[in-house]
Amino acid sequence: MGDSSMGLHEQPDKLSPQTVDRHRAIVSLMEEFEAVDWYDQRVDAATDPELAQVLAHNRDEEKEHAAMTLEWLRRHDPVLDTQLRTYLFTSGPVTEVEENATEGNGAPGAQAPQLAPQAAGPGDGSLGIGSLKGVGE
Ligand SMILES: [Fe+2]
Repeated sequence: MGDSSMGLHEQPDKLSPQTVDRHRAIVSLMEEFEAVDWYDQRVDAATDPELAQVLAHNRDEEKEHAAMTLEWLRRHDPVLDTQLRTYLFTSGPVTEVEENATEGNGAPGAQAPQLAPQAAGPGDGSLGIGSLKGVGE
């Protein structure tokens, strides 16, 4: 694959494989959400109801692709993991979620990251699976 098709903004030899893989995932996520947006508009505009149903089905499959890609990114980006754990699946005003999460903590900006044991930093793609080797043997 040529550099131009990858859309990298720096010389590839200066980039870690982990950064390039996250780039691949981010670009894929952008493409999936762009497809959702395009399908949304086509569903609205389609005059044939059956075509609109097919397009809506296809659109919703793109959401599965986006969710799977986002989950991969979360597992490979600890800061993203923390932000998603703070903001996702909350209710009430989004701008107050962080306040509520840190309420009573006293430390400004401190969040309970609740990092899963398998949360791996960039550069560690093992997901801790290696540490399970030999368990129970
Ligand atoms: Fe897709």
